[in-house]
Amino acid sequence: MPLLSGASSESIEYSENTPEHTPEQRTETLRQQLNDHNYRYYVEDAPSIPDVEYDRLMRQLQALEAEYPELQSPDSPSQRVGAAPLSAFTQVAHRIPMLSLDNAFDDDEFARFNQRVKERLNTDGDIEYACEPKLDGIALSLRYESGLLVQAATRGDGQTGEDITQNVKTIGSVPLRLKGTNLPSVLEVRGEVYMPKAGFESLNQTAKETDDKVFVNPRNAAAGSLRQLDSRITAKRPLEFCAYSVGEVSEGFLPERHSEVLAVLSEVGFRLNPELKVVTGVQGCLDYYRDLGERRSQLAFEIDGIVFKTNRLDFQQRLGFVSRAPRWAIAYKFPAQEEMTQLNGVEFQVGRTGAITPVARLKPVYVGGVTVSNATLHNADEIARLGVKVGDTVIVRRAGDVIPQVVSVVLDKRPSDAIDITFPSTCPVCGSETERAEGEAIVRCSGGLVCAAQRKEGIKHFASRKALDVDGLGDKLVEILVDKGLVNRLTDLFHLELESIAALERMGPKSAQNLLDALEKSKSTTLPRFIYSLGIREVGEVTAKQLAKHFCTIKAIINATEEALLAVPDVGPIVAHHIVTFFRQPHNLEMLEALLAEGIHWPDVEPQPPVETLPLAGKVLVLTGTLIELSRTDAKVALEALGAKVTGSVSKKTDLVVAGEAAGSKLAKAEQLGIEVTDEAGLKALLAEYQDQA
Ligand code: IVH
Repeated sequence: MPLLSGASSESIEYSENTPEHTPEQRTETLRQQLNDHNYRYYVEDAPSIPDVEYDRLMRQLQALEAEYPELQSPDSPSQRVGAAPLSAFTQVAHRIPMLSLDNAFDDDEFARFNQRVKERLNTDGDIEYACEPKLDGIALSLRYESGLLVQAATRGDGQTGEDITQNVKTIGSVPLRLKGTNLPSVLEVRGEVYMPKAGFESLNQTAKETDDKVFVNPRNAAAGSLRQLDSRITAKRPLEFCAYSVGEVSEGFLPERHSEVLAVLSEVGFRLNPELKVVTGVQGCLDYYRDLGERRSQLAFEIDGIVFKTNRLDFQQRLGFVSRAPRWAIAYKFPAQEEMTQLNGVEFQVGRTGAITPVARLKPVYVGGVTVSNATLHNADEIARLGVKVGDTVIVRRAGDVIPQVVSVVLDKRPSDAIDITFPSTCPVCGSETERAEGEAIVRCSGGLVCAAQRKEGIKHFASRKALDVDGLGDKLVEILVDKGLVNRLTDLFHLELESIAALERMGPKSAQNLLDALEKSKSTTLPRFIYSLGIREVGEVTAKQLAKHFCTIKAIINATEEALLAVPDVGPIVAHHIVTFFRQPHNLEMLEALLAEGIHWPDVEPQPPVETLPLAGKVLVLTGTLIELSRTDAKVALEALGAKVTGSVSKKTDLVVAGEAAGSKLAKAEQLGIEVTDEAGLKALLAEYQDQA
């Protein structure tokens, strides 16, 4: 016999909110629409309307409720946006205590649990278990009276919790009123509030950008969000609720199985965990445990184990409880993803692009299923944010395949001789100056190709198609040449010998000779290609062209001040700074001299004609939508180089709009104003036509 019946899931007929309807009718329609969208979005994960539309309906409802206060109601969706702050939470006594679970940490412990269950039930048959991911969040008890949510309480000590109804009403997957008609006078639903991983990441990302509190893990974030006295803050947090059991239920008609209770909860509007399953016997449980364990890091939410519950409710009844945990359930935990250990030191590693990353050397600790002795500290900002010192006790986290991270410092355990961490001012690999661009978190080595850490990437770049275009010198071969010690500096490329190349794996005399020929040929290049080949940070192909055009000689570029560089289209303060820093390094200048001494040469670059004479001088263009082959920046720079002005909005002064894919309002405006429009192909044709002239 079902616990409840008559729960309906038919969709709602939408009627326009025309003025002829009474305020009551309009309010009712809006509430139904909002509840329906809410259910689809938060429970079924299938949004039916865009967020802006939801917001629009919500504002209409709020306006009506403000105008007609008699229409306000505790289950109105307008309650979900939060209410005035409380001064404190009040205590709530749980009529049926909220229990905790016994744990198992290995297969044997789990098997012993199953054995105990069978002995108590005096049965030989395999037991049917309901398997549920153990969500890592906060336990909650929701009390519904005649279908209306009247109270939401935390677990507290299991006997007494706190009333957090206002906060919980803001959680989209918590029904404010149950679906269906034949509802019991009392139904307590228990489950977990948690923050999905994606929501946690974006919340923290925003917090870092705005210097707000960064949460250590999704569980803490969920707990912190629920503990707000101001529910308007909770409303902004990405929380979810999944039901996993019931507390007090009136009218006594429980179904026979736990899985059926959950099915009823789903019918009345609750979200259930998508991974629920019923299995038989120990092996069924262990298979489930392994399967989910392997997929743990891919799940949208954090779990710290699996909860196994005897599925038959009469078995649960017979097994009963010991102290504060049921005998009919157990939590088989996964290896912890966070552990405490000591920070023994910090090393600075130089990556392939020169980025210097601080790496924590840790006292080895078993976490997330492996022994961890290193963890990333990301960058200088992160070290400052954590306030971490060498000697500190830290919390290390390893979730899935993610690189282990230091997430927080246990300040109580800080020794008196803890040492501050200072970022090196010179590169630990090559000794070049390090630099940190304004507004950037990453410190980099300015050594470029002189730095062994960056050499391979630099050589690959130097030989690449848009740079010196050395035919046959691909990434793999560069790796081999550097690993074998045949190439250390760029100029070594031009001293390679036929025999040593021919002796390499998958090479022969013919391909070796081809490579030597290609290297020789590459010496005859252009100034833009040469500038690009140097691998100066953020100097791409287009900027290199602009620099060549503006300064005409490599010498002029080397000697240019930041101010002079800023006069070049496409060069902003950051790029100008990179260029000046690059040429300030004596080793970069030496390398450049050495390359020229190898015979790298290019035709002279003619000085630029005055802007007025450029083919697109005086023309105003707007780029909109997504360009597929060109980046927007490249397109802008190329157009500006032809004398055009590229602006952000369409007006009567616009001469041409380039509309890429999925162009929206700007395209519409252009059409409305009768302005000429072209697509990416048209833009490319235009550039090709005029670039020849320019
Ligand atoms: S059942 C009497 N099921 O784990 C049974 N608990 O240590 C009580 N939890 O405080 C809990 N997922 O917050 C149950 N599917 C699940 C769960 C679950 C997470 C949490 C819950 C409880 C703790 C027990």
